[in-house]
Amino acid sequence: MSVLSGKNILLGITAGIAAYKTASLVRLFVKSGAHVKVVMTPASKEFITPLTLSTLSKNPVHSSFTNEENDVWNNHVDLGLWADIFIIAPATANTLSKMAHGGSDNLLLATYLSAKCPVYFAPAMDLDMYKHESTTSSFEKLQSFGNIMIPATSGELASGLVGEGRMAEPEDIISFIEADILGKLPLNGKKVLITAGPTHEAIDPVRFIGNHSSGKMGFEIAKAAANLGAEVVLISGPTHEKVVHNFIKVIPVTSADEMYQEVHKYFNNVAIAILSAAVADFKPKEVALQKIKKKSDTLTLELERTKDILASLGAIKKQQFLVGFALETNNELENAKQKLKKKNLNLIVLNSLQDKGAGFKGDTNKVTFIDNKNNITEFQLKSKTEVAEDLLNEILKQIHA
Ligand code: CTP
Repeated sequence: MSVLSGKNILLGITAGIAAYKTASLVRLFVKSGAHVKVVMTPASKEFITPLTLSTLSKNPVHSSFTNEENDVWNNHVDLGLWADIFIIAPATANTLSKMAHGGSDNLLLATYLSAKCPVYFAPAMDLDMYKHESTTSSFEKLQSFGNIMIPATSGELASGLVGEGRMAEPEDIISFIEADILGKLPLNGKKVLITAGPTHEAIDPVRFIGNHSSGKMGFEIAKAAANLGAEVVLISGPTHEKVVHNFIKVIPVTSADEMYQEVHKYFNNVAIAILSAAVADFKPKEVALQKIKKKSDTLTLELERTKDILASLGAIKKQQFLVGFALETNNELENAKQKLKKKNLNLIVLNSLQDKGAGFKGDTNKVTFIDNKNNITEFQLKSKTEVAEDLLNEILKQIHA
């Protein structure tokens, strides 16, 4: 999944011959899962038709302050605020100069002045125009405003000359923006380990001891971490949850022993480990090789402790920021604080079964964060998606403190 998925992208097209390539650009943005709207300068319509762009973007295309058909005002402020990203491609020397000096004599320029989102521009012009001091000073000025330049490339130009000034190819514009966004994400380049779901401890070939954990909380944490740029390893017990994300590698396991093995394969190299799995505390001492037959009225199973995965990580942790969960029914704060200390954690997430909507199943949770300096932050009942985001924000805050 691209980082552009779900983003609102406003494409501004100005009057350069490279405008014909914006059909592919819109197509690629849509393919990456983005919502696309197009704003054009009036002269750019000579190079590509609004009909082509509205068909590909599945949205009306705007190029003047009023809608020609019904005299309704095209609101540049709304357009600018709608956008998560504004990309001007191709960006001519004329438009870049106006942008650098506050010109607003067309809808695209007025939208630029109203936009609060990151702005990218992909210049396209003849080689001498590209090199002219006036143009390079526009580039510098726009970059000093925080706008991001996608440099032109070298090649054959519309004039027949060969040199710098060709607009970057649509595929390269997309890769540039994706890399730029990723590079700025707070967990970019960091590895995060997450456990989720229940474990199943075999009694015989057809039976097991398990619990009601759905895995939802852990999967939401994995998504939240991946959306912040982390490379996530999600080790999950049996669950119906599914996730497809370029940055999430799911490792399915069944028992506590398997989870322990997998977790220890990855822990050394991670920056953050969040153990949200509801690991069985006990497993049958002997696993029957054949299905157990009902020969008598009662059956006694002897259970033994599973390895405490979280505690084993606390005992060896170095740089890792280690987070555990505590599901409690009584004396919650005290129990959670004890777990935090005993297992050498940086943070523990407490959920109490006393709270309606908290815990195992369902889409909501009500949590309290306790850190190793005894700071306690209590939250309202929220969706598990929001709880996951709150948790990642708290971890980021603590890592950068
Ligand atoms: N955990 C683990 N390995 C286990 C058991 C628990 O990694 N064998 C982790 C869970 O993922 C969770 C935390 O430890 O992050 C829960 O702590 P735990 O002491 O197991 O809580 P409870 O199971 O509720 O313990 P108790 O029954 O003693 O309250």
